[in-house]
Order: sequence, then structure tokens, then C-alpha cells
Amino acid sequence: MRVHKPGMAAGNVPGNNSSSTPQTQAERRTLLPVFAALIALCAALVATGRNQGATTRARTMPEPPPDWAYAVNPPEKASPAKPADNNLQHVPGSAAAFTLRQINDGFNPPDWHPDGHPPMPEVVAHGRKPEVLACGYCHMPNGQGRPENSSLAGLPEAYIIKQMTDFKSGQRTTSNPDFLPATAMDTHESKANKKEVESAAKYFSGLTPKPWIRVVETATVPKTHVAGWMLVPMAGAGAESIGHRIIETPVNVKLTEMRDDASPFIAYVPPGSIEKGKQLAITGGAGKTMACDICHGPDLTGSGDVPSIAGRSPSYIVRQLHDIQSGARSGPDVMMMRPVVGRLTLDDMVSLAAYLASLHP
Ligand code: HEC
Ligand code: HEC
Repeated sequence: MRVHKPGMAAGNVPGNNSSSTPQTQAERRTLLPVFAALIALCAALVATGRNQGATTRARTMPEPPPDWAYAVNPPEKASPAKPADNNLQHVPGSAAAFTLRQINDGFNPPDWHPDGHPPMPEVVAHGRKPEVLACGYCHMPNGQGRPENSSLAGLPEAYIIKQMTDFKSGQRTTSNPDFLPATAMDTHESKANKKEVESAAKYFSGLTPKPWIRVVETATVPKTHVAGWMLVPMAGAGAESIGHRIIETPVNVKLTEMRDDASPFIAYVPPGSIEKGKQLAITGGAGKTMACDICHGPDLTGSGDVPSIAGRSPSYIVRQLHDIQSGARSGPDVMMMRPVVGRLTLDDMVSLAAYLASLHP
């Protein structure tokens, strides 16, 4: 698995991203009148929640960020320079071919399936040297994302713009600063200018999210290690107990390594966690949290400018719940999430993320 390295040297230009067919625009459910009424309700709940949050925090410290959700690459070993591998690589269902150097070019990532998405704006396809890496390098040209970053396909345009503002202002950071993919949003990508951010937001918002993560309840999981800032099974290492973790890993490591945006993920979750998460999400767990659909919409795929939480990476969801609880993510609208996360244990976060990932995006 390649190291996900911000500031990577540029490679050769494959230039295959010209042909494409526009995809159906994600239908935005605005539900504005309903939402306006809910905002009033939310404001009241936030007021109570803030007080609860304060007492809860005084009693319990947030648990340390779990290393399976913030998967940190081991330090790179210094190795003698190898001759460049100029072999052309292929993936199923694509006529394109790229060398490894091209595949890992942060300013011109591979577009294996140009027919699978509309034409990308410049900042998504190439970024801007020296600091703004192509958004498509990490989030993938079709916006499906990977466990170490985030899916962006179909998120509200205004929400995406707002998040970029929060990364820039320092109100959105991470509970674990060693988790470099997240810090890249602030050190590199927040240098994108207004026009670039707007074009990227419009593009990703117009994409339709596809089912991307298969969720499987299991007591045992393959032993994994961290490579490319995600968990990857160790060949021949056998199995171990899942414990209180989520193990999210590529279905096909080789294709994920090739940055194939058609190769999905599998998430192993603890037995019983999906049902536990469902109860919390639907009922609010007798005051432990709040019913998610009040703000995230009836099927949790978003409402107005509130983002979808359905069918998204469970590692990402756990990081966000943790970051909001720890205060690492504190943008203006995160206020609404305070009463939701104030009393959650890490186990609750695992259950919620398992349930949410199991839903249709
Ligand atoms: C070096 C990899 C990388 C690049 C390049 C990158 N991102 Fe990100 N992005 C991330 C990671 C990692 C996260 C999730 C951070 C976390 O888990 O806390 C993220 C999160 C986001 C989010 C928040 C999503 C949500 O649901 O709240 C938005 C919006 C976003 N990125 C937009 C962009 C845009 C626009 C670009 C191009 C200008 C871009 N990103 C380029 C790594 C990257
Ligand atoms: C009172 C309204 C409200 C309720 C109830 C609520 N949320 Fe949220 N949630 C929000 C808002 C608003 C945001 C976006 C915050 C921002 O703009 O940064 C959000 C963001 C999130 C995010 C981050 C999404 C992303 O793309 O990064 C997660 C995860 C999340 N909520 C989970 C939940 C869960 C799980 C529940 C139910 C247990 C829940 N929320 C209930 C309002 C709410």
C-alpha cells in the first residue's frame, strides 16, 4: 500500500480524463418548511444539551482517540532508491493504464473510469501547485472516498463550503494530530481559493453516492496492520477477536492501492452492534443522545444543509463523533451536535457507526 503523502512530487501526465457523460444530479430534498420548524426545536434542545454537556464533561473525560479509526502509518524506513517501476497497471472495466508513479501523483491522480462521473473541475482533477493537492486524489474522482478521508458525493453544496471554512479557520481539526490525512485538509487544502472551493463543492454535491461499504457483524477478524493510512489484512497472520472495534478494509487491496474508485470496502463490526446503534439512532437511548432523523432527515441521507450520515465510512463517522465530543471539531453548526455526543461512550459510537454504515447512502 502506498504512503499517502501530502506534497508528493508530480509525475507524468496521463491525460485521460476528457471523455465523460454527465451523471444524474443528486436530488436535494430541501424540506425547508419542516426544517425551519425543527431548527426551533433543535435550538431548545441545544440549550439543555449544552448544560448536560458541561456536567458530563466534568464527570468523564473523552476516551482517547481509537487507533483503528485514526490509523497512523508506521514511520517510513529509509530504503535505497529503487529504479522507477514503469510497468503499466490496469484495473477491471477500464481501458486506461498508468504507471505507479502516475497513480501516486497528488496533482494528477488516475481517473480510471471517466464515464462514471461528469467532467471534473480543475481543482478536483489537478489541484494547484505547490500546496493544493487534487481533491480527487484523496476523495476519488467519483467522490466515494476512503476510510482515511471522507465520502463527498451528494453532500449539500453549502455544507461542503462551510466545512472548508472551518478547516481554514482552525475550527475543524482532529483528536489525533498524528493522523496526517486529516491535518492535510487544514495545512494544504484550506489554501484553495473561493472559486476553487465553490467549483469543488458544486461538483461533489452533484454526484450520486453509491453503496460502497459492506457491513458484516463478526466476532473474529483478519489480523490487520496500517498501510496507506488504513487497515489492511496481514497475509498469513490469521484471525483475532474483533473486541470493541470496527475493522474497515479494502475488498481488494491491490485495486485500492491503484486508487480504483470502483473498488469498494468491507467493514467488520462487533456482533449485535447494528441493532444497538439502530436503537440509539431511532430513540435517542432514553435521553443518552437524540434521535438522528430530527435533523439528518427521515432516512438519514441529509436534510437541507445538514449532511447525510447514511452509508458512509464507519471509521470516518467514529472520528467525527469523537472529534465533536473532544472539541477538535467545533465549527458554528457543530453546536447542534453537542447534546447528541455529550454522553456517548466509544462503544456507543461504534454501534451508531455500524448502524449508519449499514444503511443505503
Ligand atoms: C491529502 C488528502 C486530501 C485531499 C487532497 C483533500 N482532502 Fe478533503 N478530507 C481529507 C480527509 C482525511 C478528510 C476527513 C478528515 C477527518 O477524518 O477528520 C477530509 C474531509 C473533507 C471534507 C469534510 C466532509 C464532511 O462530510 O464533513 C470536505 C468538505 C473536504 N474534505 C473537501 C475537500 C476538497 C474540496 C478538496 C480539494 C480542494 C479536498 N477535500 C482535498 C483528505 C483530503
Ligand atoms: C439537533 C440536530 C441534530 C441531531 C439531532 C443530530 N445531528 Fe448530527 N449533525 C447536525 C449538524 C447541523 C451537523 C453538521 C455540523 C457542521 O456543519 O459541521 C451534523 C453532523 C453530524 C456528523 C458529521 C457528518 C460529516 O459529514 O462529517 C455526524 C457523524 C453526525 N452528525 C451524527 C449524528 C448522529 C449519529 C445523530 C443521532 C444519534 C445525530 N447526528 C443527530 C445536527 C444534528
